[in-house]
Amino acid sequence: MAVVVTRRETFTAGHRLFNPSFSDERNREVFGKCSSPSGHGHNYVLEVSVAGGLDPETGYVMDLGTLSAILHETVIDDVDHRNLNTDVEWLAGRIPTTEVLADAIWDRLEERLPAGCLWRVRVRETEKNWAERRRDPA
Ligand code: NI
Repeated sequence: MAVVVTRRETFTAGHRLFNPSFSDERNREVFGKCSSPSGHGHNYVLEVSVAGGLDPETGYVMDLGTLSAILHETVIDDVDHRNLNTDVEWLAGRIPTTEVLADAIWDRLEERLPAGCLWRVRVRETEKNWAERRRDPA
C-alpha cells in the first residue's frame, strides 16, 4: 500500500523554443510564435508527488516542508526569474519545452530523494498545457 502526497511550487521563467540545427523557416513551422527570437515567459507550476508507506510516528509519507526545501535547492533556485535557454546548467543543450522540464526535473529529484519514492513530476506551463513524467509501473 502506498499513499501519494504532492507539493506544489511556482516559478517564473523565460524561454524560446527553437532547434539551432533547423532553419528559421523550419523553426517557425515547428514551434510557431514560441520560436520568436525575442522569447517570452511563463508562470510555471511544479507539482511533485512522492509515494510510500506511512511513518507510524508522524503519519507522514514525507514531511512536505522537507520536500519543499529540496525542491527549492534542486530546482526552483536555479530556474526562477531565469532564461531557461541560457541560464540553467542542467538544461544546457536541450529545448526547454514543458516535456523537457518535467524530464530534467525528475532526474534531478531522483538523485536527491530517498530511492524509489518519487512518483510524479508535473510541470504546468499554462492553464491549458502541462507535461508529466511518472514512475514506470513495477
Ligand atoms: Ni512558451
